[in-house]
Amino acid sequence: MFIYPSMLSADPTRLKEELIAIEKAGADAIHWDVMDGAFVDSITFGHHVVAAHRKLTNLRFDVHLMVENPYRHVENFSKAGADTIIVHAEASRHLHRNLNYIKSFGKKAGAALNPSTPIDVLEYCYDILDMVIVMSVNPGSSGQSFIKSQLKKIAKLKERLPPSIEICVDGGITDETIGECVKCGADAFVSGSYAFKNPDYAEAIRKLKSYG
Ligand code: DX5
Ligand code: ZN
Repeated sequence: MFIYPSMLSADPTRLKEELIAIEKAGADAIHWDVMDGAFVDSITFGHHVVAAHRKLTNLRFDVHLMVENPYRHVENFSKAGADTIIVHAEASRHLHRNLNYIKSFGKKAGAALNPSTPIDVLEYCYDILDMVIVMSVNPGSSGQSFIKSQLKKIAKLKERLPPSIEICVDGGITDETIGECVKCGADAFVSGSYAFKNPDYAEAIRKLKSYG
């Protein structure tokens, strides 16, 4: 089981120190929540921020694009050092093309599904997908409550997806919600507030991993 802490919940005045601390604490990759103020209301990190942190760690960088027309941003985030780029199915009029475009930069390609989005939209992309993110909150902010109906979606994905595609759950992950997700077949978890609100990051990550 893998834990990907989200820099959205890190102290924004100390992103560098937070990145180093969360790596030491056992993070398996770093999750960057990119919001454009259009697909969701908030605005967060641009590609310059990701690039500036690239040299501080060898951990994988997963860039979760919560933006309209994600195609426009793939090149910039690829060059900034993203290893995986995740686009929302709802924001991608041409999801298949977007995923292929990410692959053309030698990156891993992921698709994220909002809580209301069924999994069928992915069916003809299985051969180019590396990761599916099940949004267990509506995108836009950290610290929201886990939406239980997404457990069914995780179980369906587990049944249908080729095993090479990672099932990652994003939103509301705590020591009370992670266990059910694991039972339904999730492989990996984004952790924002749970990882960063515990003063001992390593303990928080250890606790989540104990459910794996
Ligand atoms: C939601 C983001 C998540 C979020 C997770 O818009 O995609 O990655 O920051 O934060 P928590 O774990 O606090 O729900
Ligand atoms: Zn995210």
